[in-house]
This record gives sequence, C-alpha cells and structure tokens, in this order.
Amino acid sequence: MSALTELYEEIANCERCILSQARTNTVPGEGPEGAEIVFIGEGPGFHEDQQGRPFVGQAGRLLEELLEGIGLTREDVYICNVIKCRAPRNRDPQPEEIEACKPHLDRQIELIGPRMIVTLGRFSMERYFPGAKISHIHGQPRKMGGIIYYPMYHPAAALHQRRWLQVIEEDMAKIPQVLAEGDGIADMEVLQDPKQLSLF
Ligand code: URA
Repeated sequence: MSALTELYEEIANCERCILSQARTNTVPGEGPEGAEIVFIGEGPGFHEDQQGRPFVGQAGRLLEELLEGIGLTREDVYICNVIKCRAPRNRDPQPEEIEACKPHLDRQIELIGPRMIVTLGRFSMERYFPGAKISHIHGQPRKMGGIIYYPMYHPAAALHQRRWLQVIEEDMAKIPQVLAEGDGIADMEVLQDPKQLSLF
C-alpha cells in the first residue's frame, strides 16, 4: 500500500472534528501521486460527500472545462480540499475544522511533492497567504520552499456570478507560463508580513 493510500485510510477513520459525525464519505482527494500541480478547493459538497470524490458537481464540471482550456484533464492533476468532510448545508468551514484537517493536507502535499499549488477560493488561499485579500493577489504566483503558490478564485464564484468567469479563465490560462517560468518567480519569504501581502 502506498503512503498516500495509507493516508486515505487514516482520513476515512478520522474523528478529529464534528464534521466526521454527519459525513457519508470522506473526500481525501484524487490524482497521480507525483502530480506536478495540486488544486486545493474548500470542502466537499453534497455530490462529493455522496461519491467520496472531490469536485464532481457543477463546480467540478467547470474546473474540468478550465483545465481543458490549458490542455489538461483532471487525471493530469491532483485535486483536493482544505477540509475532507462535508460541512452541514455547505456552510463555511470553521477555523477549528480547518485546523483539525491541516495535518491531512500537509501530509498529502508532502507525499505528492508538487511543483505548483493552486488555491481555489479564500479558504485555501488563507492557508498559504494568511491575511491576504483574494481580490489583490489572485493570478499572482509566489514561491516558497521551492513550490509555486498560485491563488485563484473558486470556480463556484463563476457559477453564482458569471462576471467572475473571465477572471478565472484568465488566471487559469496563465498556469502553463507560470510553470515554465518557475525559477524566475519572486520568493515569498520576503512577503511574510500580511500587510505587505495585501500590497501585491
Ligand atoms: N467545491 C470545493 O471546494 N470542493 C469540492 O470538492 C467541490 C466543490
């Protein structure tokens, strides 16, 4: 059994927060173990909870279309969420739930070892760009510890308000170039101060 499969088992048995009580399935994430890009969303919705797979509803279909736009399929990338269990009525994840799930996400990233992490929405952005505003930093890559972090709006935003679609499409379209530039991307170590983060 691979270390990632072991982690999925650990997540399936996890009772670290109250979300474990009402879930149908845990939704650890899926994709190739050596994926170059990891997409991190917010948390499972109804369909994800039913199927135990991330991004299988409407937002997932849009994510697949966006990936297609840059010549990728969902099988080429790793897709997961900040929290691995559905929150009741899809409410926002609570800080203690995000904190309880943090070791799972951290271990997942460690095992996959991606070159690039794309955060989808403010909850996954907050994890890597604390205190930043998504409207200020979306579409701007930063590097830390050899990984490129790239914040984007959540695809669900475009489902609620069509005007976000163009922004999301433009940010997604930049991903191949960001990956190609790799080494030339500014390091985030100098931008640890949240006040500075909100400036770029
Ligand atoms: N939205 C998310 O953030 N994650 C999913 O898995 C599905 C919808």
